[in-house]
Amino acid sequence: MIGEEVQVRLREIVSRYPSARSAMLPCLHLVQEEQGYITPEGIIAVAEAIGAKPDEVESVVTFYSMYTEEPKGRCVIKVCTSIACYLRGCDDVLAHLEQRLGIRKGETSSDGRFTLEAAECLAACGMAPAMQVNGRFFENVTTESADTLVDYLVSAGDTAALTSAWQPVSDGRGMATVSRLDAANPAVEAVEAADTADTTAQQNGAHER
Ligand code: FES
Repeated sequence: MIGEEVQVRLREIVSRYPSARSAMLPCLHLVQEEQGYITPEGIIAVAEAIGAKPDEVESVVTFYSMYTEEPKGRCVIKVCTSIACYLRGCDDVLAHLEQRLGIRKGETSSDGRFTLEAAECLAACGMAPAMQVNGRFFENVTTESADTLVDYLVSAGDTAALTSAWQPVSDGRGMATVSRLDAANPAVEAVEAADTADTTAQQNGAHER
């Protein structure tokens, strides 16, 4: 069911573009964000908003892997398995997450909380291995930092808490970490401690050279 509020936001998005059809992708993003996935009603709502046929919108939805017509977990974890991440150990990270979450890639946990996916290149090759959690990037991921993130995801309670309190921190190296907004969380402290130790080790190594 696409509510009036979403309809208004769709019209607002369309108004920003010289051609209504150019707003198709952001409109689909909005619908997916609101519904968790793109339903037939969502496709019709977007088609009406941009003046296209539902078939045209559906063809775009099925073309891009960033859209889904299937319900997924509240927390979608995507691990890049393309070449740069493969060479930097993404298989270990993915296998570790499968074991930790008790699901195989492509599956959703029975409580509807986690979906684990293998993804094609996430365009973060310079910081491989990379993964995304609900669209947020985590880079230079190890089995240990992936574990810490899962600890945090479990303790955070629900997706709303995650999206509002959880931000990636840019330290110039794209280290997988979370923001100090929730620094009281032990998992966050663990990530930050590991990050600090790693940075110190790198600095010491640089000085020794
Ligand atoms: S290969 Fe993994 S982000 Fe590009």
